[in-house]
Amino acid sequence: MTTRRIVQILADGQPGESQEVRGWVRTRRDSKAGLSFVELNDGSCLSSLQLVVPGDLDGWDELVARVTTGASLKAVGTLKESPGQGQRVELGVESLEVIGEADADNYPLQKKRHSFEFLREIAHLRPRTNTFGAIARIRNVLSAAIHRFFQDRGFVYVHTPIITTSDCEGAGEMFQVTTLNLQRLAQVQTEIDYGQDFFGRPASLTVSGQLEAEIYATSVGDCYTFGPTFRAENSNTSRHLAEFWMIEPEMPFYELPDNMDLAESFIRSVVGEVLERCSEDMEFFNKRIDDTVLATLANITDNEFIRLPYTEAVEILEGAGREWEYPVEWGRDLQSEHERFLTEEHFGQPVILFDYPRTIKPFYMRCNDDGKTVRAMDVLVPRVGEIIGGSQREDRLDVLLERITECGMDPEEYWWYVDLRRYGSVPHSGFGLGFERLVQLVTGMSNIRDCIPFPRTPKSADF
Ligand code: 4AD
Ligand code: MG
Repeated sequence: MTTRRIVQILADGQPGESQEVRGWVRTRRDSKAGLSFVELNDGSCLSSLQLVVPGDLDGWDELVARVTTGASLKAVGTLKESPGQGQRVELGVESLEVIGEADADNYPLQKKRHSFEFLREIAHLRPRTNTFGAIARIRNVLSAAIHRFFQDRGFVYVHTPIITTSDCEGAGEMFQVTTLNLQRLAQVQTEIDYGQDFFGRPASLTVSGQLEAEIYATSVGDCYTFGPTFRAENSNTSRHLAEFWMIEPEMPFYELPDNMDLAESFIRSVVGEVLERCSEDMEFFNKRIDDTVLATLANITDNEFIRLPYTEAVEILEGAGREWEYPVEWGRDLQSEHERFLTEEHFGQPVILFDYPRTIKPFYMRCNDDGKTVRAMDVLVPRVGEIIGGSQREDRLDVLLERITECGMDPEEYWWYVDLRRYGSVPHSGFGLGFERLVQLVTGMSNIRDCIPFPRTPKSADF
């Protein structure tokens, strides 16, 4: 007798085989003919296995009331060809054991449609739903695809620190890390002496592993990070999280066009892999969540991305004859509405914008000779907008020092970063892809809070 997961049984289980299964009850239906049908799901795939329980099963009279939605059970039986639609095999049950009951009057996930807002409040149970089970599996396959993409190309996976004393993006949106007793400090109202703090100086959670990745790129060569990042931006939008995962490749000897090539083949490759490996879950998203998602993804894998300077994008937006909520003007950052207009309406496919005004981009980006723009690139995709931000890095010592000061930062604090321009500096580039925005793109989910198991957003860090 084998214990296999339902995904395997549904794929290759043969009629006549004895089989043990374990999982959680989705529904039970009792027929007039004395049979009970139990839909059992174990999370290994979207589909449940149908258990057919004969009314005269030993002890069934006592058991039946405990086989309710949400209960966990173990069943043993023989696989049979299923006469029903939508499944190849079902299990004719010969013995059944309820492992954990789920009180039918209180179990919050009764079989009906629940809003995503409600499900966020029960994040400990929502992965048992079709949607959140599928998202968990997609995240898993995407993670593996991402590692495979870089590993196949010889990139080294580097683990950059989570606690840091430098603000990579220079936006001051960092969560402080401290062991000081703030309660006591507040009472005595003294100046804060960071010398007394754990690290002897102010420290924070990282907003990006880029600066440290640059160190490794200029020593071990092509490398990437894939880890959690934290931003204390107070934006309550459907595209922002306070804690999110980012993939950041960094490559020596890459200039901006090489960086764009890599970003484009990266997105197309991981999207292609999900389409190939997760067909059942992807059909579910296309049917239940967003009926354009498969077409959007096919468009991404089949077509080259548009590449366009920021300045030309601004001209297109100014000429669009639209009332924008946020004004469009050279020198201002683009907002989600502008990004979505470009990729969804104007071009109808992903767009890479480059050469942004230096005043709206961080200190580390390479300055162009025009004195106004930097070698930045953002990859914009339909429905999500910006999914990747990256650049060629400033590799000239004097220009970098000037830029750090221009951005109101202290070059002394970044001495080690500046050192890389002193000793064997090379042109290099990299980018960051927001993992949850990728999950949003792939699944068609409209809110990023539903694309991570336990979202952290302003005023919300439950579970
Ligand atoms: O454009 P960003 O800020 O770029 C960087 O952090 C660079 N250091 C990356 C690099 O060059 N190595 O962020 C990169 C991506 C964005 O394009 C977006 O997809 C995602 O990270 N992102 C967020 N995702 C969810 N919630 C947030 N608050 C995010 N902020 C950025
Ligand atoms: Mg950005």
